[in-house]
Amino acid sequence: MVEPTESRTPPPLVEEGFRGKVALVTGAGSGLGKAVATALANEDAIVVCADIDEGAGRATAEQLGASFTPVDVADLDSNHAAVQFAVDTHGGLDLVHLNAGIASPFGLGDDFDAEGYRKAMSVNLDGVVFGFHAARPALLARGGGSVVATASLAGLAAMPVQPVYGTNKHAVVGLVRALGPAHAHEGIHVNAICPGFADSKIIDPIRDMLGAGGVPIIPAQTVADATLRLFADTDAHGELLVIQAGNEPYYYKFRGLPGAR
Ligand SMILES: NC(=O)c1ccc[n+]([C@@H]2O[C@H](COP(=O)([O-])OP(=O)(O)OC[C@H]3O[C@@H](n4cnc5c(N)ncnc54)[C@H](O)[C@@H]3O)[C@@H](O)[C@H]2O)c1
Repeated sequence: MVEPTESRTPPPLVEEGFRGKVALVTGAGSGLGKAVATALANEDAIVVCADIDEGAGRATAEQLGASFTPVDVADLDSNHAAVQFAVDTHGGLDLVHLNAGIASPFGLGDDFDAEGYRKAMSVNLDGVVFGFHAARPALLARGGGSVVATASLAGLAAMPVQPVYGTNKHAVVGLVRALGPAHAHEGIHVNAICPGFADSKIIDPIRDMLGAGGVPIIPAQTVADATLRLFADTDAHGELLVIQAGNEPYYYKFRGLPGAR
C-alpha cells in the first residue's frame, strides 16, 4: 500500500489559466481521457481528441466542440501525425495528456500471452515515449509546455494479478521521473498521474470483484480535476500525483538511496 509520505499537493487552478491553450489528449474517446478532455474544454482550452477508436474519439470531440485526430500511440509516425494535426489546425501545442492505455489480464505462467505482452508494452510504454518525442518540438516552439502521462498506482505498488501492466506503469513512472528534470530547462513540464481504480471501461472485467471487496471506485471527474491541477503546477517536474479514493491528491516521494561508500 502506498503511504502518504509528503503533503505537497498541486495548487488550486488559476482562473482562466487554460484559456486558449491547445491541448492534445490521447485516449480521449473513453474514461479518463474523455474526462480530462471535457475538463480542459470546460476551462476554455482548445482540445484535440485523439484515439485509435475513431467512433469514440469523434463522439467526444463532437460533444465538446473539439477537433479529432486518429492516433495509434504505439506507432511513432502516428504520434507525429497527431501533433502535426494539432499544430496545423490550431497553430501550436501547449498541453499533452499521454493517457491512452490498455489492460494486460495475464501472468507469465500458463496464461502467458506473448503477443499481448508486446501490445501492452507498446501501447502503455511506447505510447508515452513516442508521444513525448513527437510533441517536444511543438512545445519548444511555444517556449515550453506541460506533459502529463497517465501512469497508475500499479506503477508504484506491486500488482500481482497483472504483472505486465504493473511493469509498463512502473516504466512510465521511471521515465517521467527522468524526463521531468531533463527537460525543465526547456520550459517543458513532464509529470504523471497515478490513479487507483477509477471509473472507466478498463475496470469492467473486475468491477464486480472490486465491488464485492468494498474497493471504492474513483469518479473519472475526480481524476480529471487532479490532472488539471497537475498541468497547471508551474513547479512540478517529474512529479507523480497519487489519486486515491477518499484522499487529497498528493505528490509521491520515493525513499532516498544511501550514497556510495
Ligand atoms: N481506470 C482505472 O482504474 C485506471 C487506473 C490507473 C490508470 N489508468 C490508466 O488510465 C488510462 C486511460 O484508461 P481508462 O481507464 O480511461 O480506460 P478506457 O479503456 O476507458 O480508455 C482507454 C482509451 O484509450 C484508447 N486506446 C487504446 N489503445 C490505443 C492506442 N494504441 N492508441 C490510441 N488510443 C488507444 C481506447 O480506444 C480508449 O478510448 C490508461 O493508461 C490506463 O492504464 C486507469
